[in-house]
Amino acid sequence: MRQTIDPHNLPQHIAITMDGNGRWAKSRGKLRVFGHRNGVKAVRETVEAAAEIGIKFLTLYAFSTENWDRPESEVNALMTLLVSAINNETKTLMDNNIKLSTIGATQNLPQKAKNQLIKAIEKTKNNNRMTLILALSYSGKWEILNAVKELIKKRVNPKNLNEQLFQQYLTTKNVPDPELLIRTSGEHRISNFLLWQIAYTELYFTETLWPDFRKDDFKKAIIDYQNRERRFGKTAE
Ligand code: FPP
Repeated sequence: MRQTIDPHNLPQHIAITMDGNGRWAKSRGKLRVFGHRNGVKAVRETVEAAAEIGIKFLTLYAFSTENWDRPESEVNALMTLLVSAINNETKTLMDNNIKLSTIGATQNLPQKAKNQLIKAIEKTKNNNRMTLILALSYSGKWEILNAVKELIKKRVNPKNLNEQLFQQYLTTKNVPDPELLIRTSGEHRISNFLLWQIAYTELYFTETLWPDFRKDDFKKAIIDYQNRERRFGKTAE
């Protein structure tokens, strides 16, 4: 069993469902927003760790399609937090040569958030050490339906449709599928994240609540992944 990260067997792409902010706040007698605010620290640590380790793509589930159904005050707080986090962290992204991108129905975000995102994406577009992908107003079912709609609009001949072509219609079209998906807070669910892309992804669950997630927790997940045998439906031989 490995105890340290093998730099020759790194996942190229790691996806994370950042869960447990609300419970973290509640256990301290605070409002949920307090948990989200402290979640930003965990985002910073994780992004830094991923870049240092040499991960090429990091996708964070920051806001799901279903999250729009939360109370308006929480949605507003999350959007405000997003704007300020991006504003505050763009310099760190530049210093660390990290490119920012998004997946999801970002057209549905408030104008302020859209503007902030466009600015940061434009500014970081030539960075190439790692790509940080924020899933915003995203869900796997939305993405697959969206792809089907596009295929129909383009009148793609069903005879020509295969996995490779279908993938080109997903929001992750130029990104390899994640080898590892991490979910915090002890929940063992996919919750509509990257449904197509996780066909053979290794799943890692930790009890740690997102605001407590630190570099060592991230490294532990990678080491756990490296101790697994991936067979993609084949036998080990
Ligand atoms: C899940 O916890 C977390 C979210 C819905 C939002 C995640 C957002 C951040 C960490 C901050 C902003 C992000 C970026 C990328 C700058 P929950 O509210 O579902 O917690 P619970 O399950 O305990 O209720």
